[in-house]
Amino acid sequence: MMNSYITIIATAAMGLESIVAQEVKRLGYSEVNVENGKVRFEADIQAVIRCNLWLRSADRVKILIGEFEATSYDELFEQTKSLPWGDYIPEDGEFPVIGKSVKSKLYSVPDCQSIVKKAIVEKLKKQHGIAQWLPETGSLYRVEVALHKNKVELTLDSSGSGLHKRGYRYQQGDAPLKETLAAALIQLTNWHPDQPFYDLFCGSGTIPIEAALIGQNIAPGFNRSFVSEEWEWVSSEAWERGLEEAEDLANYDQPLAIYGSDIRHEMVEASKTNAFEAGLGDLIQWKQMQASDFASDQSIGYIVSNPPYGERLGDKKKIEETYKQLGTVLRDYPGWSIYMLTANEQFESLFGQKATKKRKLFNGFIKTDYYQYFGKRI
Ligand SMILES: C[S@@+](CC[C@H](N)C(=O)[O-])C[C@H]1O[C@@H](n2cnc3c(N)ncnc32)[C@H](O)[C@@H]1O
Repeated sequence: MMNSYITIIATAAMGLESIVAQEVKRLGYSEVNVENGKVRFEADIQAVIRCNLWLRSADRVKILIGEFEATSYDELFEQTKSLPWGDYIPEDGEFPVIGKSVKSKLYSVPDCQSIVKKAIVEKLKKQHGIAQWLPETGSLYRVEVALHKNKVELTLDSSGSGLHKRGYRYQQGDAPLKETLAAALIQLTNWHPDQPFYDLFCGSGTIPIEAALIGQNIAPGFNRSFVSEEWEWVSSEAWERGLEEAEDLANYDQPLAIYGSDIRHEMVEASKTNAFEAGLGDLIQWKQMQASDFASDQSIGYIVSNPPYGERLGDKKKIEETYKQLGTVLRDYPGWSIYMLTANEQFESLFGQKATKKRKLFNGFIKTDYYQYFGKRI
């Protein structure tokens, strides 16, 4: 099992699939298929470890155990039972089954879950030669049964908590950005770690922290654990290899010019705490500042921000005024590239300039646009 090829699925938020695919390719895996909400590719178990440690924009890394068509519970049961569950889940493994069903004849998720659970129990008893009771007192093997148009996909989750949980966010504001989305926003720019990078609405610091991790090539999962670290058939040497590689590839000597500012003093303090927890110490420069007070003597730089959207009635006017002021101030920086994620559809007219490019992205359930203004070559 350690050396054989498996199908790996990295799940992604809607709109981020192509970014995750690029990340997977950068890790050295080719033939990456992009599907809705996920990318899939074939590789060995070391790839599962490397993806958990390195993928910045993916939600989870899963292993495909089997896929087939099923329109009856009998089919679901028999085909699930025919898969080699015992190769993955040991005698004492805990294996809760979660599920989802979209446009499928078997639409009752609780029923699908319990059928799959029963089928796996039977298979494990047979494969492990146990007569009755499976104790489920060991490591966690979370199974997902996902039905889409009658096609069943059975996976094992190798991540545990979602990959956005890097382990550094101790403090957060009202509307923190998911770390995975923050990393995607940065990767959608052409920023190079030698160039100045600003977030003028930093909140709890997610964007600058992710930029620093990218800038020094630090694996985002380096400071957390994953359920598959406890799996019997994944050797601890394989994990050590993954961690050693992450240590070797980190470039702690890369100088950075990353700045985060926010109008609220307590958010600046929260950012400092989080950056410290991320192991970045004083690498990022934090400041309490009104966004429109931005000033720099550099002719080239990047601003990547997630400003308030002004969804609450009273806030709308205030934030729209901020967008206007920002547009006026940033006109004096034609060499700078500016990236703003907001749900405010009037952004371009308030900012006073049409974006070079726009990309639709979801921030949680909020439909947003990522407005991208490319700096002029000077
Ligand atoms: C949507 S939150 C940013 C969340 C952040 N990306 C995170 O992950 O925590 C917007 C932030 O903008 C700040 N803010 C609001 N008006 C501002 C202004 N005029 N200048 C600077 N910051 C402002 C708020 O205090 C808030 O922390």
